[in-house]
Amino acid sequence: MAKILEKRKVRPDVYYIRLDTPDIAEHAKPGQFVIIRIHKNGERIPISLADIDPERGSISLMYMTVGKTSTELSTLEVGDEIKDVVGPLGKPSHIEKFGRVALVGGGFGVAPLYPIAKALKAAGNEVVTVMGARNEDLLLYENEMAATCDEVLITTDDGSKGIKGVVTIALEEELKKGIDLVIAIGPAIMMKFVCKTTEPHKVKTWVSLNPIMVDGTGMCGACRVSVGGQTKFGCIDGPEFDGHEVDWDLLMSRQQMYLKEEKEAMELYECNCAPAS
Ligand code: NAD
Ligand code: FES
Repeated sequence: MAKILEKRKVRPDVYYIRLDTPDIAEHAKPGQFVIIRIHKNGERIPISLADIDPERGSISLMYMTVGKTSTELSTLEVGDEIKDVVGPLGKPSHIEKFGRVALVGGGFGVAPLYPIAKALKAAGNEVVTVMGARNEDLLLYENEMAATCDEVLITTDDGSKGIKGVVTIALEEELKKGIDLVIAIGPAIMMKFVCKTTEPHKVKTWVSLNPIMVDGTGMCGACRVSVGGQTKFGCIDGPEFDGHEVDWDLLMSRQQMYLKEEKEAMELYECNCAPAS
């Protein structure tokens, strides 16, 4: 059981929660994730760590209300308990002094970049973050990233804040100035195009993959991805992989596998939850 200590709606479709999980907070590292189950009949969903606070014994998560389980999670309030929080899972981000590092966050993908940015700074790197969203209202962690990184570049698809366009426009300019490593987290299509942008510059690019997951322990095979022509499991071999080696088409097609079932589950949930008229 993990009690919700804080809850905020940070975007119309994204919530921030801080959970009382001393054991996880003690061992968790940037780049890892947890799998949560709201109640005993609930679906298991993976969520990346958006912050780790060993001193207070808590972890923070940000999640988008995309389906039944995330919508149900958004109905829980401070003081409520989540039945299972399993973690930390996955391999932590590799942190050392690389030099000048560019972090690229698309939409709420910037959330898991925040603990990574803090760790890279503590290791002596110069950290430049490019964060992109469709519009100004969808930007997240702006102040936190500005307080942590050496530079933050903002892009919005509609030009309502920062550079008009997608993240790769700003990244291209930073690559010309010299970048030693790129870490990208966001929609798969964004990570694919970040890799296409860094490839000609021969800059190592780590991406955090978010395939469908079930058990999170390497047993079920749901999170199968292809990297460098080899089958890997996102949950135990990742979630970070060398983006230049990822089979993006396979990842994106497998992400769509249960769309019909997810839509049906959401419709049923909305129907059961509708207030009596
Ligand atoms: P979004 O779809 O609004 O995209 C955010 C930004 O990504 C855009 O503003 C743009 O700058 C960039 N982008 C999108 N398509 C691009 C392209 N073709 N080329 C270059 N840049 C492009 O993002 P959202 O609605 O906030 O959704 C966030 C996504 O991040 C979700 O798909 C979620 O699953 C993913 N995510 C992944 C992880 C992970 O661990 N991999 C963690 C959190 C979120
Ligand atoms: Fe089951 Fe990775 S989620 S093997």
